[in-house]
Amino acid sequence: MRKPMIAGNWKLHKTLKESCQLATELVQQLATIEDREVVIAPVFTSLAGVAGEIANSPVQLAAQNCYPAETGAFTGEVSPALLKDVGCQYIISGHSERRQLLNETNQFINQKVSATINAGLGAILCIGETLQERETHQMLEVLTNQIKEGLAGITAEQMADVVIAYEPVWAIGTGVTASDEQAQEAHAFIRGLLQGLYYQEVAEATRILYGGSVKPNNVDGLMAQSDIDGALVGGASLKAEDFIRIVRFE
Ligand code: PGA
Repeated sequence: MRKPMIAGNWKLHKTLKESCQLATELVQQLATIEDREVVIAPVFTSLAGVAGEIANSPVQLAAQNCYPAETGAFTGEVSPALLKDVGCQYIISGHSERRQLLNETNQFINQKVSATINAGLGAILCIGETLQERETHQMLEVLTNQIKEGLAGITAEQMADVVIAYEPVWAIGTGVTASDEQAQEAHAFIRGLLQGLYYQEVAEATRILYGGSVKPNNVDGLMAQSDIDGALVGGASLKAEDFIRIVRFE
């Protein structure tokens, strides 16, 4: 019932030319993919170019961030409407790197999720606890606040346009993946939160991706868990061969 999604977060990597080359390779290899959604998130400056390469293919485009306003005096920012205009279907909000490096709060992230949905795009909301929060038993409280505050004002109907990405901060870029059981446990908890905030149908229909050192050699075990509906992939999404293997999880 939940179509799996594999999303590649390219972060601050690749020139326009390199981005277009990788996108072209993915399109060639993944042209017939139907049973899973494939999404790539290049840097802003590569979005329009990559959109041209993936046109008429199953590969979809995401932005890594947005600013929650339509237009106006917001120097250096990019709106959801403009991201839609260049061909994005999704926008990622709340990535832990932005929470940590740029001090983004749940409230600001909530505005982005809302603006994304209002622009007619899908929102990928990232949440996840730090190692310190896990070790001091604050994980469930942190996840609860991130979900409740991140989804404030989002209706049950709008939840059809929301994908959650659970990314434990200690697993991002470290090579240390959450075990299948740790990830499943967190995903089941998050689905329970959605059931409490909305109702069962919403909780069952919402996709929850896992992120944090997803690689070709661990994706199958993660995807075998009942509440893991896909992956948000950083490092391993930068190499066509690795990302394609992850998309082809068994
Ligand atoms: P990683 O990044 O796969 O390199 O750990 C995941 C992410 O930050 O989305």
